[in-house]
Amino acid sequence: MNGNKTKPKIVVLTGAGISAESGLKTFRDNDGLWENHRVEDVATPEAFEQNPSLVYRFYNARRAQLQEDVVKPNAAHIALAKLEKALGERLMLVTQNVDDLHERGGSSSVYHMHGELLSARCAISQQSFHWRDSFDHTTKCPCCSRVTLRPDIVWFGEMPMYMDEIYNALSQSDVFIAIGTSGNVYPAAGFVQIAKECGAHTIEANLAPGATNALFDESLTGPASHIVPQWVDEIISKYAL
Ligand code: APR
Repeated sequence: MNGNKTKPKIVVLTGAGISAESGLKTFRDNDGLWENHRVEDVATPEAFEQNPSLVYRFYNARRAQLQEDVVKPNAAHIALAKLEKALGERLMLVTQNVDDLHERGGSSSVYHMHGELLSARCAISQQSFHWRDSFDHTTKCPCCSRVTLRPDIVWFGEMPMYMDEIYNALSQSDVFIAIGTSGNVYPAAGFVQIAKECGAHTIEANLAPGATNALFDESLTGPASHIVPQWVDEIISKYAL
């Protein structure tokens, strides 16, 4: 049996593609439109200032969709939970997804760098609250009883969460894999470069090559529900985990 010394340090980055087979649309499906609005136009602090009811409605609809019976974790989410069991803290799972499918698939440590749908944040105290129902500009905040709740989502132009922890893990990683992400949105799209410069083996797992494909050492092509469980089993057997 291998001891901790030979276990690799792995950073996994996931994007909307890992949840596509779970019944959630990726961002850039449907030409990136929602009710004829560009998704980028509803996911900004400016949109929230100018048209808060539109922004609340957008996230209320997505929160409700996430809780529909048909939306379930798929084999890729479940395989990453298996990898967490094998690697413990040597695995960092970072997701750009705001859904909770990694958690439902069994992962206990998930870095949601773009926030979470099932959460509401007080715009004043920045405290977050687990939230399953719809909310809007009339909903009272549990911490200050004022109407200060906003979606707990990192909008375009805002700083993603956990960046120090993520850069630290990337700099120490032996393997970096990006799963189901188009490589269009920074800083996540830049993680491959950092991991590579720090000596990691870099892998892209996607249905089709993303925008940064040329930077990866290896490509796994196909639906996440097939290629991710296969890759996890290979890692487990390669390192006798
Ligand atoms: N298996 C693997 N990959 C898939 C699958 C699948 N079944 N279905 C789609 N994909 C891939 C697509 O080929 C695409 O490269 O998933 C990727 C989805 O890309 P995007 O929709 O751009 O999603 P993502 O990269 O996660 O977006 C990043 O942009 O809109 C913002 O903040 C939002 O977190 C989001 C960020």
